Amino acid sequence: MEEGTFLLLLFSLLGTASALSFYGDSISFMAPQKKSDGNFQVTFYHRQNSRSNCQHQSSFTCESGLCSSFVQSSSFETDMDNTGQGRWCQSEGSTTVTIPSSNTSVSLRDSGCCWQSNVEGTTNWTTSAELDLGTRSDTHTLNSCPVTTTVSSLRVPQNCFSNIRLLAHDPDGDLVRCFFSPGAPVPSNLSLDETECTLTRTGQVHTGVHVFELMLKDFTTQNITLTYSDGTSVLREAFNLNTPLCKVKLQFSLEILPPIPNCEPGHVQPVFLSSTPSHGEVLHATVDTRFQLFAEAQAGHSIINDFQVSGPQNVTKAFSDGPNGKADVTLSWTPRPGDLHRVVPLCFTAETNETQSEMRCVVVVVTQASVISGKAIVLCSPNKMTVVLDIASMPGIDVNYLKLKDPSCSLTSNGTHIMGTMSFSTCGTRLEEKGDFIAFLNEINSFELPNAVITRRKTVKISFSCQFPKTVTISSYYNLQDSDYIFTESSFGSFGYTFDIFLDANFTARVAPTAYPVEVRLLQTTYMGIQARSELPSVTLFVESCKATPDDNPDNPLYYDLISNGCIQDETLKIYPSNQTVFNFGVETFKFTGNYDQVYITCSVILCETGNPFSRCAQGCLNKPSRRRRRALSRETAPHSITQGPLRFAGKTDVDDKRVLMKSSDTSVNPPAASQVSASPPDTNSREGGWPIKDILNTNISTAAFGSAFLISVVVLAVVIRHFSRKRKAEDQNALIPHAEDAD
Ligand SMILES: *[C@@H]1O[C@H](CO)[C@@H](O)[C@H](O)[C@H]1NC(C)=O
Ligand SMILES: *[C@@H]1O[C@H](CO)[C@@H](O)[C@H](O)[C@H]1NC(C)=O
Ligand SMILES: *[C@@H]1O[C@H](CO)[C@@H](O)[C@H](O)[C@H]1NC(C)=O
Ligand SMILES: *[C@@H]1O[C@H](CO)[C@@H](O)[C@H](O)[C@H]1NC(C)=O
Ligand SMILES: *[C@@H]1O[C@H](CO)[C@@H](O)[C@H](O)[C@H]1NC(C)=O
Ligand SMILES: *[C@@H]1O[C@H](CO)[C@@H](O)[C@H](O)[C@H]1NC(C)=O
Ligand SMILES: *[C@@H]1O[C@H](CO)[C@@H](O)[C@H](O)[C@H]1NC(C)=O
Ligand SMILES: *[C@@H]1O[C@H](CO)[C@@H](O)[C@H](O)[C@H]1NC(C)=O
Ligand SMILES: *[C@@H]1O[C@H](CO)[C@@H](O)[C@H](O)[C@H]1NC(C)=O
Repeated sequence: MEEGTFLLLLFSLLGTASALSFYGDSISFMAPQKKSDGNFQVTFYHRQNSRSNCQHQSSFTCESGLCSSFVQSSSFETDMDNTGQGRWCQSEGSTTVTIPSSNTSVSLRDSGCCWQSNVEGTTNWTTSAELDLGTRSDTHTLNSCPVTTTVSSLRVPQNCFSNIRLLAHDPDGDLVRCFFSPGAPVPSNLSLDETECTLTRTGQVHTGVHVFELMLKDFTTQNITLTYSDGTSVLREAFNLNTPLCKVKLQFSLEILPPIPNCEPGHVQPVFLSSTPSHGEVLHATVDTRFQLFAEAQAGHSIINDFQVSGPQNVTKAFSDGPNGKADVTLSWTPRPGDLHRVVPLCFTAETNETQSEMRCVVVVVTQASVISGKAIVLCSPNKMTVVLDIASMPGIDVNYLKLKDPSCSLTSNGTHIMGTMSFSTCGTRLEEKGDFIAFLNEINSFELPNAVITRRKTVKISFSCQFPKTVTISSYYNLQDSDYIFTESSFGSFGYTFDIFLDANFTARVAPTAYPVEVRLLQTTYMGIQARSELPSVTLFVESCKATPDDNPDNPLYYDLISNGCIQDETLKIYPSNQTVFNFGVETFKFTGNYDQVYITCSVILCETGNPFSRCAQGCLNKPSRRRRRALSRETAPHSITQGPLRFAGKTDVDDKRVLMKSSDTSVNPPAASQVSASPPDTNSREGGWPIKDILNTNISTAAFGSAFLISVVVLAVVIRHFSRKRKAEDQNALIPHAEDAD
């Protein structure tokens, strides 16, 4: 083994380097190349984390193979804490290894003595990667390793930690699984979802720094053969988790901070806003062209002072902060010719002095400029998506040789554009959960006539999708007019709901995005409208219940019924007649007693087959709901929850007490049992005794203005497949990633 050892000095700081603490690292490979002399060339980028001094020394060794050369670039600091507190920094360096053609795999390794001090007491660390050098029968190239990284410093308050999603992308589309490295410490009360590559908490986790040594492995999803230079080949069976194609280690540290009073995302802990790419997204950059990534976060009760970034060398970040605790960052990077075909991991977090947002990661695939020149537009509507390709931007494209995932769905052309329209359940459209988004994906591919001997056409692969956020948190969407929830059920197809706030009882003008925040007064009527949209011609909307809660949790024990079992419960609630797919209502604005400054309205809605006398819709108000009815699939959908809010009452209601009537509990109020109250989330500092009831201003104090931020957002909880709930985003129309590959 000794003769195969090469020392790499990525840094000149020989003397002091060994004393530096290790905070984690990651390796990402470029696709291995077979050179004309038959030898393999493997280039990898090594990112290493630290706090304040990011100069480091690496000494990779090449095991089980005679690596004939190691060529490494110098390592550069890629990111550091700009606030002067020295909380993180990261460096990246690249290394190119040449391996003789006789070898079937290569294994690289580096180690050191000094993890930063941690709860587990781990000291030594080893980083490693192992690649198979066989040519795959499916791609006719060498296998590509999974791509991953983390930011240097992951921090989360003890009480706010639920899970951490890690990046696990495979350029070949293989299955990636994450494991604790054999022999690695496993911090107690933490577990790893190997499939999702997500770290989850199973109990109380100690404050302090915990260190993680994970191994990412990729596995084929088809039976393939790997053929080696000497002509031998082996079969790799689909989903055989004993024989990974590549193993690559990911190491990071996670600091569990002391608890904070409020874990609501966007309060003290920054939350990413909708303009930020979603976790796991694949973005494209072209050589010699500046690539930019924009991310935006908000923390209403804290100050975001920087974004932490794990990115390639020479990535620059431009930070700016805005009103209401918002801040954004623009990352810029210009790939050079040497970066062609690199799949670059990029992770980022928004930072405050006290805590940090979730970590978001994307991958950036570097392509040649000519490859992605096609212009295409995707239009996402609640029930379908339409893709429009600009023929002029893709010379040589031929509608007769293009197909969707399901080739029986046809594309049409009008001479200048090629178009295709499909619902979310047809034409081979696939549903994918992408962390906080649900995406409907399809793609356009070129095909050849089965017996064509030669091909002169360009191969085309255009993936497109409509994405809908699954969970939208407070105020991140307040400026969006449309709030669509989309559901799919087998007998009803796809259908959607909008839930809007209107200016008046005419229900024509929605509260305009530019009008926010809107001042409202207690006793004013709030007009809200629910509209169902379905592809089916004859459906009826039924609002089974609507309740108000002081936060976005519809199951909060503190709630107030506006409608339940189809019966009106609040005497100020008025229904305005409309047609069968619209439900318009007005209710006098109220707030919860106690230190609650906002209200959410959650309604449970059902669509029924119009005219069916046995449907829930036909039954209307059921004062004494008997036993749970069996739902007939063909006549009504399951109840779906849609939420509107918060209606915010900023500032204290400093109205003379005598003029506020505490409307004591009558039949319409739901005083929860004492035990439930104490179990409710502690987001009030002082609850002024008594049962949570609705405050009603009894007298005519129309001059008493309560500086109120009247925000609209949509919160969807408990997403179940097929009952997924989401809201349309304005940016969805840009969700297309055109990607045409020139395979001439
Ligand atoms: C790689 O090549 C060296 C020298 O030819 C040989 O000793 C070693 O066993 C090979 N390793 C593998 C995994 O084939
Ligand atoms: C850490 O590494 C040193 C030197 O390589 C070795 O002597 C020591 O036994 C290792 N410690 C542990 C706990 O493995
Ligand atoms: C694990 O969590 C449980 C329940 O939260 C707690 O009682 C226990 O002390 C935790 N174990 C450790 C080692 O922290
Ligand atoms: C892969 O091959 C195994 C036998 O080697 C066979 O049982 C299995 O069905 C094959 N799977 C696929 C997806 O072709
Ligand atoms: C980064 O920029 C410096 C200065 O412009 C340049 O010398 C260096 O080669 C660049 N590194 C990479 C990896 O692009
Ligand atoms: C964050 O911490 C630094 C150093 O302790 C301090 O200078 C700065 O004022 C703090 N910022 C905020 C917003 O608290
Ligand atoms: C073809 O359809 C596209 C998209 O609908 C439209 O923009 C374009 O003007 C049409 N071209 C012709 C020649 O009708
Ligand atoms: C509704 O619209 C009509 C005419 O467009 C207008 O006269 C009326 O005042 C409106 N009603 C309300 C409540 O604003
Ligand atoms: C119901 O009314 C809404 C808005 O007023 C309208 O968009 C929709 O087309 C109407 N639906 C039917 C079935 O008339």
